[in-house]
Amino acid sequence: MKALILAGGLGTRLRPFTETMPKQLIPIANQPVLEHVLVNLRALGVREICVVVGAWGPDIAARIGDGSRFGARITYLTQQRPLGLAHCVAIARPFLGDDDFVMYLGDNVVQDGIAGPAEEFRARRSDAHLVVARVADPRAFGVAELDARGRVRRLVEKPRLPLSDLALIGVYFFRPAIHRAVAAISPSARGELEITDAVQWLVDRGGPVTAGEYTGYWKDTGRVEDVLDCNRRLLDSLDRGVHGTVDAASRLTGPVHIAPGATVLRSVITGPVIVGPGSRVEDCRIGPGTSIGGDCVLRGTELENSIVMDGAWVTDRTGASDLLIGRSMRIGSGPPPEPLPTELAANGARTGGTR
Ligand code: TTP
Repeated sequence: MKALILAGGLGTRLRPFTETMPKQLIPIANQPVLEHVLVNLRALGVREICVVVGAWGPDIAARIGDGSRFGARITYLTQQRPLGLAHCVAIARPFLGDDDFVMYLGDNVVQDGIAGPAEEFRARRSDAHLVVARVADPRAFGVAELDARGRVRRLVEKPRLPLSDLALIGVYFFRPAIHRAVAAISPSARGELEITDAVQWLVDRGGPVTAGEYTGYWKDTGRVEDVLDCNRRLLDSLDRGVHGTVDAASRLTGPVHIAPGATVLRSVITGPVIVGPGSRVEDCRIGPGTSIGGDCVLRGTELENSIVMDGAWVTDRTGASDLLIGRSMRIGSGPPPEPLPTELAANGARTGGTR
């Protein structure tokens, strides 16, 4: 089986962050969303992956690489304009050939992986196998109506009066029959080739289309609140590990991960919290649900339930929470950190310890 990851799009709901980076590279628990996707595909043993990219293609390729880190070979395919999810399938046809494939939205996090749904797809031999999850308010989603045997009767995009609470999550399994469907449909009112229309085309022609319920945590990280929710959730399974330098005046409680080369001075950190390599945290109170990337500086700051991306500085903030702080962003001012006191630099206050 091949994989098609969709990492183009405009990311309008995540502006202004998506003015400076693609949303698929936003770090969740210090790992880009797209890498969470690739980890799940690696677990499935997928070796050939096509990543559809838009204007941010070069940045995505620079960060993700050729796929060898994930046991796969990645082909990047540029979509000139975001003309819809089914349009991505159409342009990837030469890559996909006549193989079965999984299409995975590059901004979706599926915490328990997709091995279960992949197995269902194999067992049922459907033309399309959708992954669905129960949601409180189906009106915001693409919704699947199923019969008693888990076969899809109808797909409805953002229904006003939902007949089902089963939302499509961003993972779809296809046999090559989908290509005929994609070729047959026309753009929707919003000008996109919709994958739901292509799947409905298969349903209407009796092609077996099935769906399986996913009960674990998943998130479409399309908005800031989704990104923060997802970060908090993934940090919940963080292991404690102190690989950097923590001075005797600091207190770490709960699952706190301090990366090698990070330094914590005179601070209180209450996990789950992750601090990336090369970052400095001085005179801070960092609360649960916070991810601090690499080479950041946080000084005299209280912060919780937030993401601080690589290279950002935050100084002299009190009571801050629920923030997504962009790469290399500066909040507050002040000089660069002093060199480490020699006694800490020399023997690493508690390097690798478990304070
Ligand atoms: P969406 O979140 O539906 O669209 P978007 O990324 O443009 O975001 P917004 O609605 O905030 O403007 O896209 C889901 C995923 O599919 C995402 O990873 C981007 C990708 N995608 C493509 O690669 N090509 C496309 O034509 C579209 C519509 C989306």
